[in-house]
Amino acid sequence: LPIAVLISGRGSNMKALIEACEKPDFPARISLVLSNRPDAIGLDVARNAQLTTQVIDHKTFGKDREAHERKVHEAVKASGAELICLAGYMRVLTPWLVEKWYGKMLNIHPSLLPAFPGLHTHEAAIKAGAHEHGCTVHLVTSGVDEGPILGQARVPVLADDTPESLAGRVLVEEHTLYPKILKEFIERK
Ligand code: GRF
Repeated sequence: LPIAVLISGRGSNMKALIEACEKPDFPARISLVLSNRPDAIGLDVARNAQLTTQVIDHKTFGKDREAHERKVHEAVKASGAELICLAGYMRVLTPWLVEKWYGKMLNIHPSLLPAFPGLHTHEAAIKAGAHEHGCTVHLVTSGVDEGPILGQARVPVLADDTPESLAGRVLVEEHTLYPKILKEFIERK
């Protein structure tokens, strides 16, 4: 199944998806890596893996979120992708795009949703005194980080954790969880 991966930065989850897609028994292949930021490091990673990349810079669309998303949608469609994986894509989507891809757009979020939606999840988990933290792959709906949960991975929060040390422990799990859940999701369809 052709998929598009949307990124905004480092792209380590995208890299995990790239590596998964290189395995012969994996049911997806990446038709496009798209970034809303021209300077996303992940773009280099994707280019090195010989993937098609595209930048659609949201800043060139001013306040018109939908105009930006129409371009994103067109690019994804043109690549032949039938599924979108958000991987550190730091844009809140409008209901327009969400509806177009409902049931066909996945996101990874660094917390055990419904706990700690939004940004700075690791800091929030530590401040809340959580003993457990982790990551969630979910379907994208218009509520930010609110869609149906497809899978989660858990890590302990240690007494001396900083947001950085905790983020690192969660990230390791993200990189296994996302390909695993994507595979299950596609095979179920
Ligand atoms: C990850 O923690 C992901 O869960 C969150 O943003 C971060 C992106 O990291 N949505 P990367 O770009 O995949 O390295």
